This record gives sequence, structure tokens and C-alpha cells, in this order.
Amino acid sequence: MIDRALTALSSMLVPGGDSISARRLYERAVEEFFGSGTALAFWKGRVALYAILRALGIGEGDEVIVPGYTCVMVPGPVVYTGARPVYVDIDPQHYNMQPEEVERRISPRTKAILVQHTYGFPAPIEPIRKLADARGIAVIEDCCHTFGGRLDGQLLGTFGTAAFFSGQWNKPFSTGLGGLALVHDAALARRVRQQQESYPSPSRTAAFMLASQLLVYELVIYPSVTALATEVFRWLTSKGLVVGSSSTAEFDIVMPPNYALRPSPVQCRIGMCEVRRTPHNLERRKHGAGRYIAELPRLGYSVPSIPENWDLMLLRFPLRVANKQEALANASRYGVEIGSWFECPLHPIQTDQPAFGYNDGACPVAERAAAEVINLPTHRRVSDKDIDRTLAFVAEVCRPAG
Ligand SMILES: Cc1ncc(COP(=O)(O)O)c(C=O)c1O
Repeated sequence: MIDRALTALSSMLVPGGDSISARRLYERAVEEFFGSGTALAFWKGRVALYAILRALGIGEGDEVIVPGYTCVMVPGPVVYTGARPVYVDIDPQHYNMQPEEVERRISPRTKAILVQHTYGFPAPIEPIRKLADARGIAVIEDCCHTFGGRLDGQLLGTFGTAAFFSGQWNKPFSTGLGGLALVHDAALARRVRQQQESYPSPSRTAAFMLASQLLVYELVIYPSVTALATEVFRWLTSKGLVVGSSSTAEFDIVMPPNYALRPSPVQCRIGMCEVRRTPHNLERRKHGAGRYIAELPRLGYSVPSIPENWDLMLLRFPLRVANKQEALANASRYGVEIGSWFECPLHPIQTDQPAFGYNDGACPVAERAAAEVINLPTHRRVSDKDIDRTLAFVAEVCRPAG
């Protein structure tokens, strides 16, 4: 925590520009962590995805398969290239796309399959990759919900043609805002680098605001105040007083201005701290998830099965309840940090889903999950007391979904 706070503070003094050395050092640290691929840093995860799609030459007339249980920031970049997102339903237990459903949606126009490891549960990436390889289709892993999770001992993010990660506030690898591409094909990596080099740096003001927000976050945001802080943050974002994760323009199908940006130096410096901290992060998240898995069945909830070949790094712990809105409405009163996402197949609820090509009823399993699932915190700031309080809240306020 101290190193992140000091890094944020020092970055407030020199906030802007594009420090190539900081960026390269950060990218190299990520490459070392994964042991394969070329890492490229961006302002946000969605920008990393956009750069990968552009580098793959995806555009008008192409299709990209995406899960029908995601946030709108995923089909957004697809639509900005001129391609069409094709939505695939999920399995009800681990919230991921299944190979049979993916196969049904492949067409001669399919140029990429985006495989999201939802909440950090590994998606069936190997069979999906086989389907894609046989047809010359690129596989992009969406690792925004995991950093350090493994399947069969192999790190998620190293299975496909490329992967991308988010560094957003609540993500397992957090640089306030931030994004990384990890590319496993040398020629593609060169083209993603060209994309990155062609993007401008964020403004000094945006970089300064982000550095200050990171400092405040390190010093005062803990689970008991998160619900209140989120409300305040949304209000400040709407007034343009802080840099938000998304602007309302991003719920539109036209790419907003200042979208495709390189990272600011503060993100690269904080990113270096995050890479160093990953083992601790993993251990905390495993502990949190382990407690929910052990204790929720006693409260009458069924929990997802965890196969032995999974080494889990869960972003949040999903829980199906019969009274989602009631649970969300009561969370801040109980001082617990309860997440609502995904609120609909293309989170958040304000998304004009048909504009992004999603029509009601297309992914019924995902729609039901969106209506039922709340998520519980597992991150490094969650103490055992916070978990006790969260479980007490579940026992008192929530009812298991039927
Ligand atoms: C599954 C998933 N993919 C991609 C993103 C986009 O990441 P970012 O906010 O860094 O652009 C998110 C964001 O919340 C997400 O949940």
C-alpha cells in the first residue's frame, strides 16, 4: 500500500507526457510475469482490445464472437472497427461461453472469438481454440477478471492469439484505470505496437487527476465505505471532477473522442507495483473465495464447483439470490461491498443493447444470471471481519434463487 501511495504522490508532481522508459519497464515486467508474449500498455482495457482488433485487420463485414454476459466496453471496440458482435450464451454455473454454442455461431465472416474468463473462472479455452485454429480464426482472451489465475498450470492470458487485461479500480490488477495487451504472435505484436505508437498520450490534467484519485483510493477506500464512495465517485464523474471509468458517450455506438490513448506514466509506475504484489494478491483472493465456498452452503446456497486443474484468482464471488434489488438497496446500510454486475447482458443497465446488436431473449441463461447474481468481494482489502459481515448480510437480507 505504501509503495502505491508514494508512487501516486510522486506522479502528481510529474503527471503527464509519455514516458517511454516507464512504459517499457512496465511492459517488460508483465512479459516476465507471463513468461511469454509481448506486453503493450494502454489507457484502459477496452483500448487494448481495440488495438488488437485493429491490428488483426478486423473491420466492416467481419464478425467477432463475444459472450452475451459482459460489459458494453467489450462489444464497443468491435463496433468501432465496423465489425458485428455475435453474442453467445453462457453456462449457468461458471458464466462462461461453451464450445458447442460458440461452434453454432461461427460463420465464414467470423474473424475472432473473444473468450472471457468471467469472474475469474477459466473458460473452456482449449476446445474453443481448437475450433478457431481449424478455421484460421483469432482467439482473444478477455482476462479483465483475472491476473495470475491458471488452468492446468498454465496462466490465463497465454492460451490464445492475444489477451487483454483491465487495470480499472475494482479489477484484480489495478492501476486506477489501465489496460494491457499480451500478444503471442510476433507479427501481430508489431502491428499492435504501431497502433499504440499512433495513439496520443492522455492529457496532463487527466493524468494528474488519476494520480490524485489513486492516492485518495490508497488512503481511504476500504470495504465498509465502498458503497458510499462509489456513489460520490459517480457524482464527481458526472460533474467532470474526476476521471471516470466510462463516459456516457461510451454507451453509444460511435467511438468517443480521446478514446484510444497510450497509458500515462502513473499507470506504468503503479503497474510495476502491481506485478510485484501479484503473489500476495492471489493469496488474499484465494482466501476470500475459499471462505465463501466453505460457508455459503451452510446458508442454503449452492456454490460453483472448482475442478482440481483450476488455480483460481477470482475477481468477485458470484452469488445467485432471489431478491437482487433488495440486496443491493441494503448493502450500504450494512457497510458491505456488494456488486451488481452484470446488470444485463451488456452491462450496465443504461446500455442501448439493440444498438450493439443484442436483442432481448438472445442469451436467456445470461439474462437470468443478470437478474439474479450479486457479487461478493474477495480483494486484498477485504479482511476476515469484512467477510464475516458480508456473510451475515447474506444470511439476514438475501434469499437463495430458486
Ligand atoms: C469482462 C470485461 N472486459 C473488459 C472490460 C473493460 O475494461 P476497462 O474498463 O479497463 O476498459 C471490463 C470492464 O469493466 C470487463 O468487465
